[in-house]
Amino acid sequence: MSEKNVISVVNLTKRFGKFTAVDNISFDVKKGEIFAFLGPNGAGKTTTIRILITLLDPTEGQAFINGQNVIKEPANVRKAIGYVPQMISIDGSLTAYENLMLMASLYDVPRNRRKDRVSEVLDFLKLSQFSAKLAKNFSGGMIRKLEIGQAMLHCPEVLFLDEPTVGLDPVAKNNVWEHLLELRSQGTTIFFSTHNMEEAEAVADRVAIMNSGKISAMGQLSELKEKTEKKNASMEDVFVFFTGNSLHQMGDFQEIKRVRQAAQRLG
Ligand SMILES: Nc1ncnc2c1ncn2[C@@H]1O[C@H](COP(=O)(O)OP(=O)(O)OP(=O)(O)O)[C@@H](O)[C@H]1O
Ligand SMILES: [Mg+2]
Repeated sequence: MSEKNVISVVNLTKRFGKFTAVDNISFDVKKGEIFAFLGPNGAGKTTTIRILITLLDPTEGQAFINGQNVIKEPANVRKAIGYVPQMISIDGSLTAYENLMLMASLYDVPRNRRKDRVSEVLDFLKLSQFSAKLAKNFSGGMIRKLEIGQAMLHCPEVLFLDEPTVGLDPVAKNNVWEHLLELRSQGTTIFFSTHNMEEAEAVADRVAIMNSGKISAMGQLSELKEKTEKKNASMEDVFVFFTGNSLHQMGDFQEIKRVRQAAQRLG
């Protein structure tokens, strides 16, 4: 069972008009793995995730979740996945409890199980004491946890998280990851995107480095570091070696921009 591929991507391509956002990528993710999709802004991370979660059709190639074809069997795929989007997805004018109840019905948690399941999830995320609080008064870390709560209500096999810790302080980041690692220890497969090399290094079993729509390197970070043939290679060295680009500045600016947009949306 441990070798079972939960995500399989085969020669996947997505073009928007003449622009190729995802350029013939292939990879597999095994059950229970934490897999990081690393890359700068515009690399194609979100586009790939949208295809895998059935929100976008690929131009060419195929993708499977739990052996189900994302194009031909989207309903089955949706049952098997949870999704935490890059932009804020909770409703600030509802309480934590109400946000989860809303998603529980959307995710088809059986009506007579909803209240119990929402309580379980609030407990799991240590948000029970804030259950009746309006989400717009939550900190960034609590918002992210609530969004993870929404995505896990129907006990999905795979969680897709698009930049799950962007804009969070180190304490909140660690707290979010504590919960994700706990979910993984229960068998959930975790696929996340980030442009934070340190984060990928801290939690991922394997990474794929994406750049301009292509995967330029994939594997365990220790293997990728060895390939740079540099002593004590850092994550930054790995990225520069495989892509010829540096990550910094650009990511920081985008991060700030996004956090502000998120804050505005919550009002
Ligand atoms: N619906 C669309 N129409 C046209 N171009 C698009 C569309 N969606 C994405 N793109 C383009 O595809 C490229 C990849 O975008 P994508 O959002 O997948 O990147 P990303 O790796 O998630 O970047 P970021 O780190 O900024 O979130 C970008 O150049 C983007 O402008
Ligand atoms: Mg993105």
